[in-house]
Amino acid sequence: MNLRVKPCSLLRGSAAVPGDKSISHRALLLGAIAQGASTVRNWLPADDCQATRNALSALGVTVEQISPTDLLVQGVGLRGLKPPIAPIDCQGSGTTMRLLAGVLAGQPFTSTLDGHSGLRRRPMERVAVPLREMGAAVETHDGRPPVTITGGNLRGVDYRLPVASAQVKSAILLAGLYAEGQTVVRQPGPSRDHTERMLRAQGVGIEEREDVITLTPNTQPLAPCSLSIPADISSAAFPLVAASLVPEADVVLEGVGVNSTRTGLLDVLDEMGAQIARLNQRVQGGEPVADLVVRPGRLRGVTVGGEVVVRMIDEFPILAIAATQARGETLVRNARELRVKETDRIAAIVTELRALGASIEEQDDGFVVEGPSRLRGARVRSHGDHRLAMALVVAGLIAKGDTIIEEAEVIADSFPGFVGLMRELGAEID
Ligand code: S3P
Repeated sequence: MNLRVKPCSLLRGSAAVPGDKSISHRALLLGAIAQGASTVRNWLPADDCQATRNALSALGVTVEQISPTDLLVQGVGLRGLKPPIAPIDCQGSGTTMRLLAGVLAGQPFTSTLDGHSGLRRRPMERVAVPLREMGAAVETHDGRPPVTITGGNLRGVDYRLPVASAQVKSAILLAGLYAEGQTVVRQPGPSRDHTERMLRAQGVGIEEREDVITLTPNTQPLAPCSLSIPADISSAAFPLVAASLVPEADVVLEGVGVNSTRTGLLDVLDEMGAQIARLNQRVQGGEPVADLVVRPGRLRGVTVGGEVVVRMIDEFPILAIAATQARGETLVRNARELRVKETDRIAAIVTELRALGASIEEQDDGFVVEGPSRLRGARVRSHGDHRLAMALVVAGLIAKGDTIIEEAEVIADSFPGFVGLMRELGAEID
């Protein structure tokens, strides 16, 4: 599917961004291994989260639909999952595969996790290594999916993560629920902590000190995981940057999760001179949320590196678009992880932004943008990456002439209503 985006001079209105993808996956998984039913509200009905739902159904878990975004998860308890009769299809979802690997490492049966061609290219030894150390038998295919796991009889580990990854951290913590003794994860910097917050709310003993997380396995069953999921800051990022860049804008994004492990983009945009206010700060589903009010700003280039990178790991495609409109140089470094996301995001961002006339250079662990430049509409491609596709839509709004984005159907992986929401704010997209 192709999208055609027209230049846009005005974005206005209030928009409800859908539920957080990371929390939606976790709510299903943690609800599934809880004792009793969990009510999950504002769940994200995107393709990636449906992959987790289907995977749990293959493991014998019933999830009832109360409304398109409200679910009732019938928990089977820590030891109630059933062996799947076929390989589990995680589609394109890395979070499904890596988090589920942690749960499956604790099960006394063999299961195989597989997925689409994009997921089959992604590294899985990063979860296999610690899970083996805990006692599970884990086979990968040259380090990639399919992943076959025979679990059971785990022991706690003290594991230092070589790269900051919330998916790997979560897999180890989930396996730790089934282990004999404590599990300790040492991370190089703060990565999203939704798993820790949710497990704690379910009654699990989890302590966090600096970047060391210690989990003590429960003797009691996990309590249900009922919550209302905040709006996803990684989805809000697209209308947010769009409203910062078009000539006239006044946009409110309601109830967005502003957990500090996720707000790296807000910090960087703030430093660049963007006009974003956080109003009505409150707590929802155990997470801090706020309404974000965005007006256009005059941006300047900045250097992005170090601990902020992991706090905005999914936001580099859209940051690159903002950087093309900032005065001076924007340098992104320490972001080599971008090369193993849905696609090699460094290479893909550079190729597609050059096609739109941006001045951007690839670096081994990031990229450099020289701004501001007047983007020109062109034919560009998503590379099978939902976040790159949405970033290119935003680029199209500020480019001269029409922009065509090819393979845009991947947007449904994380934000099925994206085009509708942008149209409501005033964008012209067909
Ligand atoms: C996620 C963690 C991040 C992020 C992904 C979702 C999660 O991946 O890029 O979109 O839900 O834990 P890594 O843990 O590989 O950095």
